[in-house]
This record gives sequence, structure tokens and C-alpha cells, in this order.
Amino acid sequence: MATTTTTYTVAEVSAHNTTTDLWTIISDSVYNVTEFQKRHPGGAKILETVAGKDATKKFRSIHNPNILGAEQFKDLKIGELKDEEKPEKEKKKFGLGSLFGKKEGQGWRGWCGKRGEKGGGQWELRDGERS
Ligand code: HEM
Repeated sequence: MATTTTTYTVAEVSAHNTTTDLWTIISDSVYNVTEFQKRHPGGAKILETVAGKDATKKFRSIHNPNILGAEQFKDLKIGELKDEEKPEKEKKKFGLGSLFGKKEGQGWRGWCGKRGEKGGGQWELRDGERS
């Protein structure tokens, strides 16, 4: 069954920046942690520092990212950032490959030298992800 995801802009999230209305962004997802503040093992104060902002970096430096999928935290997620405002997606799109002219939808194809031969090999960009 198709489920619709509510999407927000960064500007919309930034309006929820007080202790009585506290949203934060982690990995392109939007969390309402207003009620969770009291339960947060790391305390309420620290969540205040990221109220209405992107907390991805701080969150990742402390937690195992998998905890957000845990049953007791599932309800905290209220939606996702709009596609064009997702910084995590942008990172993937403009990864190291883009330095070599890699475009979205292209993949590296090639080989590392012929069997029995030392060195050699050739890599090139082709349309279509690696199969
Ligand atoms: C939905 C959002 C969040 C959830 C569900 C969450 C959950 C947790 C949990 C379960 C712990 C206990 C340790 C662990 O199991 O990792 C914890 C600790 C902590 N969290 Fe969060 N957290 C969230 C957001 C944040 C953010 C945004 C920050 C920082 C800006 C933060 C800072 C901390 C700190 C400082 C600790 C204490 C670490 C320690 O004592 O070693 N948390 N959090």
C-alpha cells in the first residue's frame, strides 16, 4: 500500500524553534521532539541547541544512526525535507565521482588488468548504474 510522506521546507522547520514547539532535522527527515525532550537520555538542553535546525552532524557524532528506526522512536518522525532541500541527497549526487565528470545515473565500468598481466586496466563512465 502506498504511503504518503509529509514534506517540509527548511524554512518551515525553522519556525518550530522553541522548547514548547521543537522540531529538528536528522538525515533529511523531520522530527518533532517537543514531548521527547523530557525522555531524551541526553537531556532537554542539548535538543534546544538544534531547535528548528539541522542536527545531522551532532546526532551522528553521538548516536548509532540505527536507533531512529527503533520502535520507541518511530513516532518522532513527522516527515521529510522536500526533495530539492535534502542536503544528504545532494551529497550523494555530488560525490567524489562528480570530480571525474560522473553524472547522475552513470556508473563506473572497467577492469583492473588482464588475467596474468600486471597492472593495466581501464575504467570508464557509462550510462546506467552498475548492474
Ligand atoms: C530524534 C532525535 C533523538 C533521539 C531519538 C535520541 C536518542 C538518544 C538515546 C537513545 C540516547 C542514549 C544513548 C544512545 O543509545 O545512543 C541519547 C543520548 C544522547 N543524545 Fe540523543 N537523541 C536524539 C537527538 C539528539 C540530538 C539532536 C542531540 C544533539 C544535538 C543529542 C545528543 C545526545 C547526547 C549528548 C546524549 C548523551 C550521550 C552520552 O551520555 O554519552 N541527541 N540520545
